Amino acid sequence: MTEVTQADLALLAFARQAQERAYAPYSGFRVGAAVYAGGEIYQGCNVENASYGATSCAERLAAGAAVLAGNTELQAIAVVGDSTSPTVPCGMCRQFLAEFNPEMRVIMGGRCDEVAVAGLDELLPDAFVRGYLDQDDGAE
Ligand code: THU
Repeated sequence: MTEVTQADLALLAFARQAQERAYAPYSGFRVGAAVYAGGEIYQGCNVENASYGATSCAERLAAGAAVLAGNTELQAIAVVGDSTSPTVPCGMCRQFLAEFNPEMRVIMGGRCDEVAVAGLDELLPDAFVRGYLDQDDGAE
């Protein structure tokens, strides 16, 4: 298990702050995220929709904010949800994050004191990344 650092806890605090802004009237499950990239912090929260599938996860909105600011080299992300054990990023978010660093540090918290830390490569081994697209030889 990866050890939790003070920097992890600091990023987690930003994720907890973002969680307060969650828009989750349907599930009631509030999620906050904070990305560390280029020395800056970018927050996101889940934003649900009456058309449930249009919902955005907190992690993807935080990562998108970093990209919008021109910081595409994501170093770490903290995620906090309403679960009583640390909330893990969903599969789609894992894939989305791998685009920007398949080995980024993932810090996870919940409605508990427990904090978990893992490499994204542990949560999503063998991510599909752009290198595979370069291997397209044009065969039909
Ligand atoms: N959710 C996230 O924001 N991130 C995740 O990684 C898991 C799920 C949100 C989506 C939805 O608004 C709510 O949690 C319940 O699935």
